[in-house]
Amino acid sequence: MSDVIDYDRSRVTLIDHPLVQHKLSILRDTATGTKQFRDLVRELAMFEGYEATRDLPLEQTEIQTPICQAVCRRLTGRKLAIIPILRAGLGMVDGLLELVPAARVGHIGMYRDERTHRPHEYYCKLPADVEQRICLLVDPMLATGGSALSALEYLRAQRVQDVRLLSIVSAPEGLDAVLKADAEVRIFTCAVDDGLNASAYIVPGLGDAGDRIFGTL
Ligand code: PRP
Ligand code: URA
Repeated sequence: MSDVIDYDRSRVTLIDHPLVQHKLSILRDTATGTKQFRDLVRELAMFEGYEATRDLPLEQTEIQTPICQAVCRRLTGRKLAIIPILRAGLGMVDGLLELVPAARVGHIGMYRDERTHRPHEYYCKLPADVEQRICLLVDPMLATGGSALSALEYLRAQRVQDVRLLSIVSAPEGLDAVLKADAEVRIFTCAVDDGLNASAYIVPGLGDAGDRIFGTL
C-alpha cells in the first residue's frame, strides 16, 4: 500500500480472498506463460464479478421442486452490461459472461500513448439501452487512471448511472484520480500496489497486461 497517495477507501472493494491472492501471485510472475496468464485473468474476473454483483436485487418466485412447491429468489431490476476497455479488458469478459450469461457486451477501444501516457480512444460500441443497465467497466490494469476515466466519462455522457469498475491490479494514483473525478463510481480490485514507475507502469504490477494476454510481447 502506498503511504504517499491516499484515496477514498469507502468506494474501493479489495478482494482479499486467499484463492484470489494465490492466483494473482502466479499472474504477476514473469515466468507465467500466455495460456496460463489468460486463464488466470478469466478466473480473477469471475471472483471480481461475484463481489461486484453482491448487491443485485432479488424477487420472490414460486417454483415446483420434485418434492414440493417452494418460494425461491431470482434476479430482478436493472440488467447488466459488461464493457471491456480494449484490448486487455477483453481477457476478463468470458469469466464475467460465465457468471452472467445474459449480460450485453459493449466495447471501448483505448490505448495509452507510450510517451505521454495519455489514453487515445479508437473504437466504441455499446448496447442501445446502455443507460438502463448496470455497467461493469473492466480492465485488468488501473495505472494513472487515464484510460478508465476516459471510458467512464464516455459512459456518463451516455447517461449511464451505475458504473462499477473492475480492475485486477490498481495503483493508488489511478484509484485516487478516478474516485476524485467521479463521485459515484465504485471500484473492485484484487490488489492496490505501491505506485507507478517513470514509464507509468504499476510497481510491482505484472507488466503489460494486454501483451501478456495476447502474446504480443
Ligand atoms: C493498458 C491497460 C489499461 C491502461 C492502464 O492498456 O490495459 O487500459 O493501460 O493505464 P492508465 O491507467 O495509465 O490509463 P494499453 O494502453 O497498454 O493498451 P492494450 O490494452 O491494448 O495493451
Ligand atoms: N498498463 C499495463 O498493462 N500495465 C501497467 O503496469 C500499466 C499500464
